[in-house]
Amino acid sequence: MGKAFGAVASVGAVATLYAMKKTWDPLPSVKAAGFTTLDMSAYEDNKLVTEKWRGKPIFVLKQSPEMVEYAKKKDELKRLIKVGNDYFMIVVGLCTHLGCIPGYRPERKDFLCACHGGQYDSTAEVTKAPPPRGLDIPPFKVDGMKVVLGEEGPEYKKMLQDGITLPV
Ligand code: FES
Repeated sequence: MGKAFGAVASVGAVATLYAMKKTWDPLPSVKAAGFTTLDMSAYEDNKLVTEKWRGKPIFVLKQSPEMVEYAKKKDELKRLIKVGNDYFMIVVGLCTHLGCIPGYRPERKDFLCACHGGQYDSTAEVTKAPPPRGLDIPPFKVDGMKVVLGEEGPEYKKMLQDGITLPV
């Protein structure tokens, strides 16, 4: 009985340690009191990663050279965040129609919201109604190769001023 209890207890201890390690792992994002810091060197072209900021899903999509060309052509570079030599789409992953979570289709480089068929392109600009606008961009500050979500840097303030996003 004592032995069996010990075995169960040590499995529990391993599970706890694993959970603690997961919490400690600092990359690619670190969360602290309303801020989430993203290490932008950790992302890959056209691979959507969902981070979290203040309980909201945050989509991070590093743009491939082809996607950057697309954004330039559509005059949507202004929706992207430049870090070093790369461009990133960083948006709140909630549909601007009624708040469903759109799914990314990497082969088409677009998002489909299954709730009512809304679509967004690779910069998260809306391409098919009913969503009234592109996905919202969270407050951010570029700090070297990092992006801090929750801080309002000059690039974010300009986006607000230019009406590229609404305040979240
Ligand atoms: S909630 Fe996304 S299209 Fe309606």
